[in-house]
Amino acid sequence: MHKNILIIGACGQIGTELTFTLRANYGSEVVIASDIREGNESLMASGPFELLDATDYDALEEIVAYWEIDEVYLMAAMLSATAEKFPMRAWNLNMNSLFNVLNLAKEKKISKIFWPSSIAVFGPNTPRENTAQNTIMEPSTVYGISKQSGERWCEYYHNKFDVDIRSIRYPGLISWKTMPGGGTTDYAVEIYHKALSDGAYTCFLNESTSLPMMFMDDAIRATLELMESDAEKIKVRSAYNLSAMSLTPAEIAASIQERIPSFEMSYAPDFRQAIADSWPSSIDDSRAQKDWNWKAEFDLEKTTKEMLANLKS
Ligand code: SER
Repeated sequence: MHKNILIIGACGQIGTELTFTLRANYGSEVVIASDIREGNESLMASGPFELLDATDYDALEEIVAYWEIDEVYLMAAMLSATAEKFPMRAWNLNMNSLFNVLNLAKEKKISKIFWPSSIAVFGPNTPRENTAQNTIMEPSTVYGISKQSGERWCEYYHNKFDVDIRSIRYPGLISWKTMPGGGTTDYAVEIYHKALSDGAYTCFLNESTSLPMMFMDDAIRATLELMESDAEKIKVRSAYNLSAMSLTPAEIAASIQERIPSFEMSYAPDFRQAIADSWPSSIDDSRAQKDWNWKAEFDLEKTTKEMLANLKS
């Protein structure tokens, strides 16, 4: 079946890689990238691009009509650390972009949506180990509150208006193509860049902060597997727990030191420590395994190998 795809937030950490992979799989001309600003050269050269403010419903509707869009991946969001500084801007961007896309689907102008949720939906009262799909949530960050609310609205639009929305609670994502921006798990990307450029890194979380993490290739594969599954298999219409590994800054440092023995790590926790402390340290993703056969492939060893090799070249 012929389907055109729109990626909103295509220049971000996840959006960039999603754009490349979707274009490789379905063809460049059917995957329209969009963002509030232009992305890096290779992304811009890889296919059609539209400047788009995701909070502008009319602009979004126009692009969807022009390109005859069928599926939308809404990757635009303000992440956890930045959202604490600009709460109202974060709420406006994270919620209104979602409502715009949900309402397009309600009006039958698009037929399928991917929207990312996060481990940030959990909070300080959530059991931290092997956190279940359904458990106490009570997020304590602006970003987490927006993702938790978003999940409720996704399920509501699915139940009330039959909107085909699919979502994953991503862990912290480790990638080399595009830097993350404004998140609490960004240290796990910065550390590899600094190991190569400076031989040293000062981490803004303390050494024993264990958080769920995933290599980007796994995250992209999970996203496409979820989107390509038959609708009746997708039993969770809020967002699926998803897991690969749980890592502390000290563990990542040690795995870098196996390859770069002179690498030096130091710690200067800042306000992001409190955000990290409110999130789970490990995630139970058995629902994703059962419903759509999810299985992670990258452990820390493989992740470090890929990160250092690709950042070097
Ligand atoms: N990685 C994100 C952040 O740190 C959470 O989804 O904000």
